[in-house]
Formats: sequence, structure tokens, C-alpha cells
Amino acid sequence: MCHSKYFEIIIFRLQVIEGSDNPLQEVVSVKGQKKDAEENIIEIKDLRKIYKVGNETVVALNNINITIKKGEICCFLGTSGSGKSTLLNMMAGLEKPTKGTIKIAGWDVEKLSEKKLALFRQNHIGFIFQSYNLMTFSNALENVAMPLIFKGMGRKKRNKAAKEMLKAVGLEDRINHRPSEMSGGQQQRVGIARAFVAKPEIVFADEPTGNLDSKTSKDVMDMIVEMATQYNQTLIIVTHDLSVSKYAHRVFHILDGDIDKIEVCS
Ligand SMILES: Nc1ncnc2c1ncn2[C@@H]1O[C@H](COP(=O)(O)OP(=O)(O)OP(=O)(O)O)[C@@H](O)[C@H]1O
Ligand SMILES: [Mg+2]
Repeated sequence: MCHSKYFEIIIFRLQVIEGSDNPLQEVVSVKGQKKDAEENIIEIKDLRKIYKVGNETVVALNNINITIKKGEICCFLGTSGSGKSTLLNMMAGLEKPTKGTIKIAGWDVEKLSEKKLALFRQNHIGFIFQSYNLMTFSNALENVAMPLIFKGMGRKKRNKAAKEMLKAVGLEDRINHRPSEMSGGQQQRVGIARAFVAKPEIVFADEPTGNLDSKTSKDVMDMIVEMATQYNQTLIIVTHDLSVSKYAHRVFHILDGDIDKIEVCS
């Protein structure tokens, strides 16, 4: 049944960053009938990545075609060497594809220069790594505040935001601790706070629980998913761990550089 009150037209003007490739887009949605143009935050077409090592050729990604919607929690599940990290690195613009296109939040990632890629990452992306990748000589507060420095936020404001994030991950009593003065689970919580502090649209996590025991893994996954859900952020997790994949709306099974099957979870 159609009632006019349900047809609430919302026009989003995506922020235009001067001199960037980010197009000015007007996306119109009708309540309850969102259009695909609004929802697809990631579109990957015919993606292929070949590495050449000496005389050898490695097909890391064969032919990947996927779309991911805003706010989706997606997991790429596969065995070692199946191409998971390669795919994540392509999406984050850390490596260039051999062939194919990657469109994320309106940006043609594979075409961006290093300068624009940096801008793209600062404005849209957060990362969580298996080995935390924290700055060794900086404390928890400085690590979490770091993405806000790149966004040009002043010290007082960014320290306040970083403190709030550390509190949200239960580390308000560890803000002055350096990574070597924290447990693995605590370091990963600092990593989570850093990934989310700038409220990116997309968070990429490569084996976020790979170095943690099963209890800590569950705590970490609960936290990541809760944060992403709170702000309707898109979460892309790469893992070989079935228990991690249970958190996803969709599980993309990756096998020898191809998506073998897509599982939709209820
Ligand atoms: N820089 C590189 N040069 C050459 N080959 C590479 C490079 N990076 C990855 N590969 C190869 O590409 C394939 C996919 O690697 P990738 O790191 O994406 O796997 P993965 O699924 O993330 O594995 P893991 O679970 O062990 O992290 C592997 O066969 C790997 O050896
Ligand atoms: Mg990997």
C-alpha cells in the first residue's frame, strides 16, 4: 500500500573535496525503497591481480565482481593464499590492480594518484590489522589521535575525541601506556579505537583476531561490530576463522582468487 507520507524524499549532497575525483552526487531515496545508487558503497568489476616473481606468474585475484552496500558487515573467508589480503589492499588503494575497476564511495580507487589516495583514505577509511600496527614509541592516546592529525584537527579537540574512543573500548585507564605496556587484546582495542575515531564510512579489518585467544577474539569482534552498527558504517573483515565470519551479514568465500560462493546470513 502506498501512502504519500512514506514517500519522503531525502537528498544527500555528498561532500565535494576540492580538486578531488569525488563527484558531486545527488542521491535520492524514497523511504523504504532505497535506490541502489545510494546503497552501493563498494563496486568491484572484473578485478584481476597478477604478481610476477622472476619468471613465475601468480594469479592472486582472478576475476572478482562484487557490490557491497552501505552499513553492510561483510566477511571474506578463505584459506591462506586465497587472495583475501590482496583484495583488501586493492580496495584500500594500497596496490594497483592488473585489470578491473574499484569504485568506493564515489571514488575510482584504481585511478587515483598517491596524493588523492591519501585523501581518500583519510576521509573514508579506517584500518584494523592482525598485528595491531601501533606506533611503538607513542602511548594509547597518541596512537588513537593520529588519524585526526591527518584530518587537521587541533590538539585539544583530537585528544578529547581519542579519550572518548579509548573509554568506549574500555581503556580509559591505559591512555598513557605504550603498546609494549599492554596485552595483545588491549593493543587491538587501541587499534579499534584508532580505526573508528575519525568516523570513517568504511572500516577494513585484516584478520583482526588472528593473534588473539578465543575469548579475547569474541570481545574484540563484539566491539568492532557494535561500533560499526552504531554509526551505520560498512565493515569489511578478512579472515580464515569461521567464528569471525558468523558476525557478517554476508560471507564471501574466496578460493584461488575467485569468489566461490556468497552466503547470506540471517
Ligand atoms: N607482493 C607479492 N608478490 C608476489 N606474490 C604475492 C604478493 N602478495 C601476495 N602474493 C601471492 O598472492 C596470493 C594471495 O596472497 P594473499 O596475501 O592475498 O593471501 P591471503 O588470502 O591473505 O593469505 P593469508 O591468510 O595467509 O594472509 C598468494 O599466493 C601469495 O603468495
Ligand atoms: Mg592475508
